[in-house]
Amino acid sequence: MITVQGISKFFGSRELFKDVSFHLRPAERIGLIGSNGAGKTTLFQILTGSIQPDTGSVTAPRNLSIGYLPQQWIPCRDKTVLAHAIDVHSQLNDLQSELRSLQQALEREKDPESIGDAVLRQAALLEKIEHLGGYDIESRAAKILAGLGFDTSQLHQPAASLSGGWIMRLELSRLLLSEPDLLLLDEPTNHLDLESLMWLEQYLLTTSSAILLVSHDRSFLNKVVQRIFELELGHLHEYSGNYDSYLEEKAVRQEIHAASYKNQQDRIRQVERFIERNRYRKSTASRAQSRIRMLDKMDRIEAPSAGLEQIHFDFPEPPRSGKRVFELSGVHKSYGNCSVYSGIDLVIERGDRIAFIGENGAGKSTLLKMLAGVESVSGGDLTVGLKVVSGYYAQHQWEQLHSEWTVIGEVSSIAGDMTQTRLRGLLGAFLFKGEEVMKKVSVLSGGEKARLILCKLLLQRPNVLLLDEPTNHLDIPSRVVLEKALENFPGTICFISHDRHFINAVANRVLFVNAGRVRLFPGNYDDFLNIWAKSLEAESTGCREERSGVSRPPSTSGFRNDRHDRRARAELRNELYRLKRPLQQSLEELETELEAAHHLLDSLNNRLADPATYRNGGEVQNLRNSHRLCTEKIRQLTGEWEVFALRLEAVEEEFWKEREKVI
Ligand SMILES: Nc1ncnc2c1ncn2[C@@H]1O[C@H](COP(=O)(O)OP(=O)(O)OP(=O)(O)O)[C@@H](O)[C@H]1O
Ligand SMILES: [Mg+2]
Repeated sequence: MITVQGISKFFGSRELFKDVSFHLRPAERIGLIGSNGAGKTTLFQILTGSIQPDTGSVTAPRNLSIGYLPQQWIPCRDKTVLAHAIDVHSQLNDLQSELRSLQQALEREKDPESIGDAVLRQAALLEKIEHLGGYDIESRAAKILAGLGFDTSQLHQPAASLSGGWIMRLELSRLLLSEPDLLLLDEPTNHLDLESLMWLEQYLLTTSSAILLVSHDRSFLNKVVQRIFELELGHLHEYSGNYDSYLEEKAVRQEIHAASYKNQQDRIRQVERFIERNRYRKSTASRAQSRIRMLDKMDRIEAPSAGLEQIHFDFPEPPRSGKRVFELSGVHKSYGNCSVYSGIDLVIERGDRIAFIGENGAGKSTLLKMLAGVESVSGGDLTVGLKVVSGYYAQHQWEQLHSEWTVIGEVSSIAGDMTQTRLRGLLGAFLFKGEEVMKKVSVLSGGEKARLILCKLLLQRPNVLLLDEPTNHLDIPSRVVLEKALENFPGTICFISHDRHFINAVANRVLFVNAGRVRLFPGNYDDFLNIWAKSLEAESTGCREERSGVSRPPSTSGFRNDRHDRRARAELRNELYRLKRPLQQSLEELETELEAAHHLLDSLNNRLADPATYRNGGEVQNLRNSHRLCTEKIRQLTGEWEVFALRLEAVEEEFWKEREKVI
């Protein structure tokens, strides 16, 4: 589908990568990984043609459609969210506008022959539009937007009023809707909450587009990709399987490489000793000469690299804050008519490490901003404890930086009387070495910007860290370093993250934010999910007050123990169960079929990913046909599944509505 042959790219005298070659096949899902600054975004820009490689070529069919989600935001035109999403289907738009003008022309046309031609064209257009899914495009767009977290009321608001993170979600929705041949997604999970992230995982598993995506999220990569391309020290290495298989295969390759290197070095030393002993003796000099030539011709195995250098830092021991860090009492927050919080009480104490969890739009970032003093409260009291020094890391970090400044200029602006030598030392720990400190902020990669902001955070010596998605854009080793630094941080931490791994490593409490209220749970994210699961169990035996909470984490409301009420509810639930059973059976059957189809697709993917398959052209064609049929089948089954699932929801909703009138 797309072939990249021997490309290299320089920035000034720095060679970013060299001799990179690979081939992308239809419908395969590949993860592009590599450290921050390795050149992943640059490679995407080369694939889309927005920048040119210094050598090599990219070959693709002329009509290949590529959907590209860049890592940084793009301005949004002045349309509603829904209209902007639908607009991406430009081919469809063209067809629809042609159809409209044709219909107008037909009303005026008198000549029977021209009318005949126009009618034929009209039929062809209608068929094409139907084929492209034009009639259900609005509902498909709405479904995708909902999956990525937009609620119905947002669909008709102007896209221009969205914040950066939401613009990225909208752009992602547009791309998914357009179903291009190839999707290039540069860190698509950065702006998603857990729920939308899981939705995206499922979506990508069923789309027919080929996918090349950059991500530093281990769970996401494990779920979605079938191959890994790693950009490392200027080379591209291919691995089959997901992220975990990549780790295993890489370890094996490194072991083999180290053993071959050692063998070759032993052999070289042996030959060198022979040469040393024999080169000056007349009788053996010619044999020594032939050994010298042999050494010259030998293909030397590169020494195994010591691994990439990683950032290393610890937050400096901060001055201690008072025991009560924040106290919120009856805090309200609203933006215009929209109420985000309606009276929350919360105490955050020194040493708390709290992960804020909740649906998108629940108000997690707003709460963090209120704690940081970036947003004021609309009502109630927010008391900041004694000697609290907050360090705030904003969600869209680039807003905090000045694109025209240099790296060293950024940190100097808050470094007080720190000497340039110490500043350079500190920047070195964040991997800005030598001339790199003179780089302009505007050319930094996503991860490099994130590192720069972390470095600035350190300089403030905060005892309370307020971090809004601090792992966004950081590569996996840097996330681990940040994890460790936060584990050792003696102060207080409030943070928002959608990296399940990271939350579990850092949090000792979870603040669940829901419907304008908050509730604090002990333990990390897994503990929180356990508590949630238990409360759902309790609910199914009838002791929860909230009926609608079935699919949600525990709410801030309490429990009810009225026995009579419990029995009445149990009876109602049985009645509902009987009503839902036939639909549920159909759903289960569809699920079994879907699972089998996915199984088949996986095995087809594995065979298509195997280089050996390509030795037999006929087999490849058969496999591709089966792949297409299987993908179509999955799409059809998923459609049916959705219809049943919606019906099931409607039955349940209707049932409770009816009973509500009675209760
Ligand atoms: N115009 C430019 N001039 C100089 N250096 C540049 C320019 N554009 C990019 N770079 C550098 O090239 C390197 C690769 O950048 P790129 O954005 O491709 O990295 P990346 O792999 O996507 O990293 P990240 O994971 O942080 O997003 C970075 O060190 C960046 O600073
Ligand atoms: Mg990048």
